[in-house]
Amino acid sequence: MALAGTTDKSVTVSIDTTTGVMADHPALERNLSGLDGLFQDTNARTALLAGGDVIVYEVYTLDRPETSGELATGTSIVYPGKVGNEYFMTKGHFHTVLDTAETYLCLSGHGYMLMESPEGEWELAEFLPGRAVYVPGRYAHRSINISPDQPLVTYFSFRADAGHDYATIETKGFRKLVVEKDGKPEVVDNPRWNA
Ligand code: NI
Repeated sequence: MALAGTTDKSVTVSIDTTTGVMADHPALERNLSGLDGLFQDTNARTALLAGGDVIVYEVYTLDRPETSGELATGTSIVYPGKVGNEYFMTKGHFHTVLDTAETYLCLSGHGYMLMESPEGEWELAEFLPGRAVYVPGRYAHRSINISPDQPLVTYFSFRADAGHDYATIETKGFRKLVVEKDGKPEVVDNPRWNA
């Protein structure tokens, strides 16, 4: 069983590698209604919301202290779907301690990790089952699910005291977007990017 708040015991968790569910742990759900401003096409979002407030992604986290010797680790599940021509994705964030790397191992699904530095360098890494992406320090990161019907499940781990800076991305956005064009993913400039 998990020994929350202790630092001297091992912890074992069971993860369903298809669904990403971490047994006996609560998930943080991100519903479409709570993701105001994330997607470009507000009309498409409103139309989708009329049919129900779907979960866009959720995150299971191991309950560990947010201190320097600890790891923040858990699963991220981005569900299949689109808002207009944009795939379901996570909000994306920098780490508050900017120079903090993170690893993501794709357990199932198909998608991308979009990464961007404050100076505007960007990278796109493809997620396939069994493939790990090492996100370097200083790069904001966002998971994007391009599968029409499968969740994108990743297992992440990073230094537990690094924190999350969501506000910078919420204010500025990423410089690049991954959108569907002619049935395929394509990287385009973000028309709303706000320097
Ligand atoms: Ni992160």
